[in-house]
Amino acid sequence: PPLQPFVDALPILETRPAAGELAAISMPHRYHRDLPETRSWGYDRSVLGPNLEAWRDRPTRISFRNELGTHVLAPHVDLTMHGVTELDRTDPRMTVHLHGGANSPDADGHPLIGWRNGGRATYAYGGRQEAATLWYHDHAMGITRLNIQAGLAGMYYVRDEFDTGRADNPLGLPSGEFEIPLIVQDRTFNPDGSIQPMVGIYIPQGYNQSGQLGDVACVNGVVWPHLEVRRTLYRFRVLNGSNSRPYIFELSNGLPFSVIGNDLGLLDAPVPARSIRVSPGERIDLLIDFSGLRDGDAVELINTAYNDLGNTVFMVPELRPIMRFTVAGAGPPAAIPPRLRGGPGLPEPLEPLATPDSVRTMTLIGLNDDARAEAVFPTLMALNNLAFLSEDVDIARAGTVEQWDIVNTTPFDHPIHIHLARMRVIGRQPIFTFSYWIANPPPAFGIRWSPSADGYPRGPQEPAPAWESGWKDSVECPTDTITRVLVYWPSVAELGFDPDAPLHVPAGAEAVAASGPHDGHSMSSSPPIRGYVWHCHNLDHADHDMMQQIRVTP
Ligand code: C2O
Ligand code: CU
Repeated sequence: PPLQPFVDALPILETRPAAGELAAISMPHRYHRDLPETRSWGYDRSVLGPNLEAWRDRPTRISFRNELGTHVLAPHVDLTMHGVTELDRTDPRMTVHLHGGANSPDADGHPLIGWRNGGRATYAYGGRQEAATLWYHDHAMGITRLNIQAGLAGMYYVRDEFDTGRADNPLGLPSGEFEIPLIVQDRTFNPDGSIQPMVGIYIPQGYNQSGQLGDVACVNGVVWPHLEVRRTLYRFRVLNGSNSRPYIFELSNGLPFSVIGNDLGLLDAPVPARSIRVSPGERIDLLIDFSGLRDGDAVELINTAYNDLGNTVFMVPELRPIMRFTVAGAGPPAAIPPRLRGGPGLPEPLEPLATPDSVRTMTLIGLNDDARAEAVFPTLMALNNLAFLSEDVDIARAGTVEQWDIVNTTPFDHPIHIHLARMRVIGRQPIFTFSYWIANPPPAFGIRWSPSADGYPRGPQEPAPAWESGWKDSVECPTDTITRVLVYWPSVAELGFDPDAPLHVPAGAEAVAASGPHDGHSMSSSPPIRGYVWHCHNLDHADHDMMQQIRVTP
């Protein structure tokens, strides 16, 4: 029988200082009252990880230990993928990326430097950024989509003098029990409770094209939970931690919420919205005011994105319910703050969009994958027509602002994430992809292809909606569209380290040989492991070549 929604309580993830040691472990976990226990992974004690709290400009160190045992999704470890070997089934690699953190290459969790059972790495995080909703998650090349589904993801708040997380914060934001992280992840469970990470029914050849689209929503590791709320204002720090599914969040009673922040910090003022799109990897900081409701009222957080891949060819399963709030009892008085930035006691206002120092076109392209010859549809998603670990590495200059015109020629939407940089969205312009493609035919896979698409407009550029006007590190790039963003590379002075420093492999970790039998594409024999990565945050895409390294030079 189908699982009943709203029968289990929302787990409140433990908040603790971002320091010390976190062991990645395996444990049984109950995702739903009526499901058998699932062998899952998590950082420290339970599935997912504690909600880590760091402070601006206070450097910290966290030691991540691997005690995972065998891979809980071992049968799904795909040996044709980059850097993956048989050993990943019995002694899986892990690496940890602090998503949204401005950290040195050594502490950034490069996908090709991993450690196995008994190994550990200690990462130094500088904290040189304003208050924001970051998250930490696994990033081991070729198995990231499985490691995160198994439970390796957690929230990470950066606090500062304005957003203190305490009741006396100068912004007047809800805090304590009224500030709640929501990690939203879709999953498919087998009747025995195990996770089914594959969606072979939608595209017959299996992995890596559309990605994982589950038929139930988990929040904080529980299927369709419920939360009892008081009649007052709440702050929800929402993370789309799903592998592939974007959501359009709404409240079932049409109640508007107030968007107060994007991935990397606060907006100038709360933006009222009835519906917002949140793609994998993105965070949205929300206020919901339950004070006008009556005891016993139930409001559901729902998803109205029915066809999530931007293409009607694919029968994507609808996933409407997410979780339920039930109103019970009075709460402390609270009001939505009129302003969040600019003004006495508030952070500096968002700066107007900068004039870029340079402009690049970056393309998203779907290709046929030699290793899956039966494919009837592009099964490999790539950036600029390059395989991961191409020798043709992009180089950016620290302290500059680039405009990236991200041209999506594939039939899917892709959330593009850049490590180290901060972004602002300029806007999105639809294009005639077919004409663009015919006029600029792509060369063989492995040769850069990134012609400008400016000459193929299908309509005017839509500016970013007000609720998306803040600092971003991940940006939704719809199909047949140029998504124009400003990429702000921090300067060396801001960072306090050399972003182009060579990577060290920590003692007990290993650099993965990425030249293994990959997809039949011949790889460089000794690829350079250097700098940062940018990639699609559809994890099935990231694992399968939709990722590139990028060096940031002083
Ligand atoms: Cu959230 Cu490169 O990752
Ligand atoms: Cu993608």
